[in-house]
Amino acid sequence: MIALGIEGTAHTLGIGIVTEKEVLANVFDTLTTEKGGIHPKEAAEHHARLLKPLLMKALKTAGITMEDVDVIAFSQGPGLGPALRVVATAARALAIKYNKPIVGVNHCIAHVEITKMFGVKDPVGLYVSGGNTQVLALEGGRYRVFGETLDIGIGNAIDTFARELGIGFPGGPKIEKLALKGRRYVELPYAVKGMDLSFSGILTEAVRKYRTGKYRVEDLAYSFQETAFAALVEVTERAVAHTGKDEVVLVGGVAANNRLREMLKIMAQDRGVKFFVPPYDLCRDNGAMIAYTGLRMFKAGIRFSLGETVVKQKFR
Ligand code: KG4
Repeated sequence: MIALGIEGTAHTLGIGIVTEKEVLANVFDTLTTEKGGIHPKEAAEHHARLLKPLLMKALKTAGITMEDVDVIAFSQGPGLGPALRVVATAARALAIKYNKPIVGVNHCIAHVEITKMFGVKDPVGLYVSGGNTQVLALEGGRYRVFGETLDIGIGNAIDTFARELGIGFPGGPKIEKLALKGRRYVELPYAVKGMDLSFSGILTEAVRKYRTGKYRVEDLAYSFQETAFAALVEVTERAVAHTGKDEVVLVGGVAANNRLREMLKIMAQDRGVKFFVPPYDLCRDNGAMIAYTGLRMFKAGIRFSLGETVVKQKFR
């Protein structure tokens, strides 16, 4: 079976074509601005403008036509309303035109599910991106969020700090590079609240300390990463302990960070659980993960009517 997936929850429009075993195409276009941040209306316009060319590119890359597609999947949320509407409308239009079934997919779940294409069976997922920070896993036949940020996403916190330092957007890779030259840990607020996380305090204090001019930026970048990542690892470890699962996966744009990978790997080794990070193009926002999750849902018997906008079904 072949699934076509359309991702468009935020500033990336992605179209993926997959079978259960492989990715046939995974193409994207991200709306970037110099200062970062996303305007929902501009994201929607971007997706509407690029849908057709990206769809053509994906079909060409996969070497198929729309007739070969068995199911159409689209990112149903969470995300920016105007962007979600463009994607859902496009998916419906294609489903009607080509008389194909349609499946709405939860974006966060798709980030974790795509790891199953690589043999992962039943993981605890740490999903870290610009807008989202969640620890989630399947329990009792449903995905549950074990912990999440109470304020901003970790990627957003890092990007905002980088903007304050004047080193541009996206800040993640730049902060990671600076942090490698950090020599001294600077105290920043550590915030794990139960199973949840908070990054706004770290951000405010890092910015305050930077503005005093008394600290090396490398030390601040290093301390920012160490503090925020330790909190992410702690909550992930708690979820592993709670669920008794033996696999951990790291997904989302911030999964590119080598220090975060290293810290999670150490935790996984200490606990005797497996650790996996998918290739970066399947970690960031992408259409292949939507296609793959939609295909698995469809094969599990989940059916959507064309008018359906809310996920009601149990995910198996
Ligand atoms: O999943 P993603 O592509 O889409 C959004 O949700 O926006 O994630 C983008 C985020 C940005 O915040 C970016 O700074 C962060 O991923 N990122 C990193 C690194 N590479 C990208 N964060 C930390 N270290 C990195 N090497």
